[in-house]
Amino acid sequence: MATSPYSRRRFLHQLLGAGTWAAAGLRPLPAQTAGSPEPFRFAFLTDLHLMEEGALRSAEGIAACLAAVENLRPRPDFILVGGDLVNLSRDLTITEAEKRLTFFLKIWHDHTSLPAHWVFGNHDLVATNNTGQSITDPHWGKGLFRDRFQLPHLYYSFDHKGWHFVVLDDIGLPPSHQYNGELSTENLAYLRADLDTHRNAPTILCTHIPILSNISMAIHMLQATGIQVNAPRTLVCANGGELTADLPGHNIRAVLSGHIHYYEKIESNGVSFINSGAVCGDYWKGPLLDCHEGFGVVDLAADGNVQFEYRTYGWKA
Ligand SMILES: [Fe+2]
Repeated sequence: MATSPYSRRRFLHQLLGAGTWAAAGLRPLPAQTAGSPEPFRFAFLTDLHLMEEGALRSAEGIAACLAAVENLRPRPDFILVGGDLVNLSRDLTITEAEKRLTFFLKIWHDHTSLPAHWVFGNHDLVATNNTGQSITDPHWGKGLFRDRFQLPHLYYSFDHKGWHFVVLDDIGLPPSHQYNGELSTENLAYLRADLDTHRNAPTILCTHIPILSNISMAIHMLQATGIQVNAPRTLVCANGGELTADLPGHNIRAVLSGHIHYYEKIESNGVSFINSGAVCGDYWKGPLLDCHEGFGVVDLAADGNVQFEYRTYGWKA
């Protein structure tokens, strides 16, 4: 039976999320209009790390997390996904990475009907550590993620109930193909232009690698005591200062990130920098230190207040 244009659009909307429609120049369903901010809830799920053939019960764990999200009351309007969907895609062949992401998306759509917005993580790089793979293949590197989520760029923005969201890609890929945390000039230029046109809307930024973390502070303090240690460029965004320099004068309420698999919240100049714990905890081997497998429940208020609660979902590795 032929699929009607309406149901096909509805299916694609649920599959891809409203931001993807906007990025593709298509009109989202339902219409997301700017206006006075309204209260609503969304879920922030990051670092899911589906293992090979669902090893370490990772497939069941992702399903359990999505069940917990679906059971939230009030129900979230959407899920913001912070990246690292599949573990170590950069070591796989392109074909293996395609299959693994297909498996991930089957688990996803079997367990949630919520719209989703997708952020690119370092584990989402495809075959960049696999020298036998062709870098001209359209799915190499960031291509598979762009293709599957229909994202012309991995930086994009969307509006929801008077709130503005900006998703950035801070996975730098230098000629060595060893990733680092870095915002490209294109990302920063996009952010500046986008913030300038949404100056009044309360805004949430999202990256995979943290812009600000206690890791930076610990390294600073070690250096101050004369201990020679360099900030690992793979843990914290190396040029996050260029982003924070753009925040004053804009209505930024929170910056959400993942990557370190540990929940921390830093208040800096009126902005909450929230690095969420991971859905997978310590790569499905249990909690990372005292941070259990979990996700963020984010409640936004009409007055621009952001309430972030990190919730576990009862997973036992
Ligand atoms: Fe991760």
